[in-house]
Amino acid sequence: MVENPLKKIKETVTGGSPVNHRGDFTTTTTGTPVADDAHSLTVSNDGPIVLHDVYTVEKLAQFNRERVPERNPHAKGAGAYGVLEVTEDVSAYTKAALFQPGEKTDMLIRFSTVAGEQGSPDTWRDPRGFSMKFYTTEGNYDLVGNNTPIFFIRDGIKFPDFIHSQKRHPQTGLRDHDMQWDFWSLSPESAHQVTWLMGDRGLPKTWRHMDGFGSHTFQWINAEGERFWVKYHFKTDQGIDFLTEEEGAKMAGENPDFHREDLYNAIEEGNYPSWTLYVQVMPYEDAKTYRFNPFDVTKTISQKDYPLIKVGKLTLNRNPQNFFAEIEQAAFSPANMVPGIAVSPDKMLLARIFSYPDAQRYRIGTNYAQLPVNQPKNAQNNSYSVEGSMRYQYTPADAPNYAPNSVGGPVADSDRAFESRGWESDGEMVRAAATLHSEDDDFGQARTLYAEVMDAAARERLVSNIAGHLGVVKSDEIRERGMKYWDNVHPELGARVREAIAQQRA
Ligand code: HEM
Repeated sequence: MVENPLKKIKETVTGGSPVNHRGDFTTTTTGTPVADDAHSLTVSNDGPIVLHDVYTVEKLAQFNRERVPERNPHAKGAGAYGVLEVTEDVSAYTKAALFQPGEKTDMLIRFSTVAGEQGSPDTWRDPRGFSMKFYTTEGNYDLVGNNTPIFFIRDGIKFPDFIHSQKRHPQTGLRDHDMQWDFWSLSPESAHQVTWLMGDRGLPKTWRHMDGFGSHTFQWINAEGERFWVKYHFKTDQGIDFLTEEEGAKMAGENPDFHREDLYNAIEEGNYPSWTLYVQVMPYEDAKTYRFNPFDVTKTISQKDYPLIKVGKLTLNRNPQNFFAEIEQAAFSPANMVPGIAVSPDKMLLARIFSYPDAQRYRIGTNYAQLPVNQPKNAQNNSYSVEGSMRYQYTPADAPNYAPNSVGGPVADSDRAFESRGWESDGEMVRAAATLHSEDDDFGQARTLYAEVMDAAARERLVSNIAGHLGVVKSDEIRERGMKYWDNVHPELGARVREAIAQQRA
């Protein structure tokens, strides 16, 4: 008999503990039968409601607590389960179990927009989140990337400012083009990402029609302890496709959940979306002399210098049963790493390592990692962290809750640990930009994207999209600074943006 792959996944990954919510009779949350689904208990027909109407009180109080804070940022999104299958051999570069030849690893993905709130339209121009949680045999490995290989800033200290500028104005409560362009034009390192954003990639047709990237440079370590720098590329097998600004705006009105619905329906229909995973691998020593700083997330590493190496295929094949339990409560974090994979000196990545678990302790609760969707599936939760609100996993009565101990508790093993190799670093503590490499500047890669990667039609749409967003800026000073930003990317682009804005405002 042929094994049903879906059945296997269902047995190994569950996103929650469904209760049998059918038939028979209604109960309170503590399981006792209730008298009425529709009428509260009152003193005569028109009298006051009594406080000992336990069920009505419970229902109203529980209702008041249904929401957890939405993610700040990336609040609007949806997700699905799938499997990563390694079809090639990259064991020369990493010992990570999930990347060994033939390995199949169950996973969860969540796609999102960055700036909008829970109910915001899927088809506003924005980068798209591409978060993955792989339930590996060595613990959970999360890759929390975007549909762009780069980012707006290169130091985490600016991240709250960046997000404030993209979200709502503190006085008006409106999204505000002046704030956005003020921040971008004063942060020239954003030019490469804003060029992507204003181009076709800033408005994918569906989540199935976009690539995913790890964006940062990560570290891979092989069985011999050799280190490599690596970038992840998930290339869509559905083909890249996009919506125009007009199509996106129309769809935002007609169906704000267009991308969420598309993914759900595709999977329900058995039309499983897939991506081919490639990596770029840079030998450890090359980073010191490479023409771009490989740890600056506003830059890509040229594929001419470090070509794509195929790894395998990611396929999404199962929708969650419960959006809240499995997607809203999913906690993705760049801090979740496994042996054979480690961080790099990228300052954004290092800031993110702190930020996500901290956000999730607040957003979901101290023991968020115990929820079924977040639990490791290798049954190796041998942490000495204990107690805290809503804890239900605990150690056997005879197991120690402290280390070191002499009674057989788990012992840390630096050879197994994911941070078993780091990088060398010494010197004064400074607040300074990362080391400049020979071709590092803020506008160079954006210029290449405009002049060498985009075709004439894509450049035309870029100009029109920029003009549409920058032309409505109210402040003359910010608008002018915004146009200079595009002059710096490419004089021709700057001139075309100026002309388009002049016509638009005439
Ligand atoms: C230092 C810079 C950054 C900080 C401090 C930061 C912080 C955060 C926080 C607090 C969340 C919400 C997490 C939650 O509540 O579960 C989040 C979500 C997210 N961030 Fe970042 N972020 C940073 C940079 C980036 C970068 C560079 C990328 C992509 C390359 C990225 C991609 C995402 C994605 C995809 C999500 C949604 C995760 C999900 O689906 O649950 N972030 N970020």
